[in-house]
Amino acid sequence: MRHIEPHKARRARLLAAMNGGVAVVPTAPERLRNRDTDYLYRFDSYFYYLTGFPEPEAVLVLTAGAQPRSILFCREKNPERELWDGFRYGVEAAREAFGVDEAHPFAALDEKMPTLLANQPTLFFAPGMDPAWDARVMGWLNQVRAQARAGVVAPSDIRDVRSILDEMRLVKDEHEVATMRRAAAVTAGAHVRAMQAARPGMMEYEIEAELLHEFRRHGSQFPAYWPIVASGPNACVLHYRENDRRMQEGDLLLIDAGCEIDGYAADVTRTFPVSGRFSGPQRDVYEIVLAAQAAAAAEVKPGARWMAPHEAAVAVIAQGLVDLGLCAGTRDAVIESGDYKRFYMHRTGHWLGLDVHDAGDYKEAGEWRPLAPGMTLTVEPGCYIRPGEGVPERFWNIGVRIEDDALVTATGYELITAAAPKRVDDIEALMRDAR
Ligand code: GLY
Ligand code: MN
Ligand code: MN
Repeated sequence: MRHIEPHKARRARLLAAMNGGVAVVPTAPERLRNRDTDYLYRFDSYFYYLTGFPEPEAVLVLTAGAQPRSILFCREKNPERELWDGFRYGVEAAREAFGVDEAHPFAALDEKMPTLLANQPTLFFAPGMDPAWDARVMGWLNQVRAQARAGVVAPSDIRDVRSILDEMRLVKDEHEVATMRRAAAVTAGAHVRAMQAARPGMMEYEIEAELLHEFRRHGSQFPAYWPIVASGPNACVLHYRENDRRMQEGDLLLIDAGCEIDGYAADVTRTFPVSGRFSGPQRDVYEIVLAAQAAAAAEVKPGARWMAPHEAAVAVIAQGLVDLGLCAGTRDAVIESGDYKRFYMHRTGHWLGLDVHDAGDYKEAGEWRPLAPGMTLTVEPGCYIRPGEGVPERFWNIGVRIEDDALVTATGYELITAAAPKRVDDIEALMRDAR
């Protein structure tokens, strides 16, 4: 069932925060893939956050002030186009179904906007997001300015609407958390399926197909990003995406895959042995990353600074690298010099939501921002050991990342993707049972 109340509430919050003026939030354009074939359509995250409206060629306009109004511009009904391309709400049905105050045909936008902008103090917009929209909006402003001698005043202040929306999107409401839980559950199931399916001799893309199958059969519209199915040496390539290697006995398989459901992303990584049994060195590295993840997750709580989980993960990984003989010196010296970055070169997480790397600042007034209930983030330490000088051969090509999606709760955190096993014994038992 589609919910319109959360979107209505978000529009009301944005209107209140604007404190006067007009906001213009267009959705994403359809994009050509090749010749006359489009990419599958995906709405703009900001627009969808405020409307829930899934069609292209749509703009939300909010006018603040004494009588705030939500105005949707969208495609009209068109029996001919609908015969070829499918259902469109049309203006009247969209107004009703999405709970806006007014709706107009998208084709009327250029005619109506100068009037809506006239005598308004501020325009809220996302400058620089799309050059075509930048030019269109400037054209409307120029039309308003051209009426100066008739006493019409154009907005003198242009503000980035994203600075308000990013803050709002950072703390998820109940509806968003519920949707993210669905994406998390389907994603966890897909990782289980991948563990059950993997065998030496299979191609990486066969596992990719298992993931995509599991996502789609549970109603996911898209993968949230293209799955990384990286075996053996590929596990040490952070953004590997070919997924076309034949997996070998003795390989680790790193899978970073998450689905998108109704706009919201999951982002999960699991690493496991293709054969179903970790070797000694694989297990040693794996246990360090798992402990780093637990240490990082323990720092996810209200009031903790954004960097606290990363610092906790780095401390565990640095100690682990010293213990394995991969870094020389003390843990603190390895952290201080950054020597651990040869093996752990990314951060421990990012905001998660409508976008996989979601909106929201990481610093506030120059300081890492404190976490608060309702924020969602990934916790994803890793360790990637490429063949190289001074690296014992038994560790070569061991690449491990363990990534879960965390919700900050009133007292700490919940890993909403925890249903995908990650303890060594649990993974080995699951894989044994599947054989
Ligand atoms: N899958 C993208 C990331 O982990 O950030
Ligand atoms: Mn991630
Ligand atoms: Mn990921």
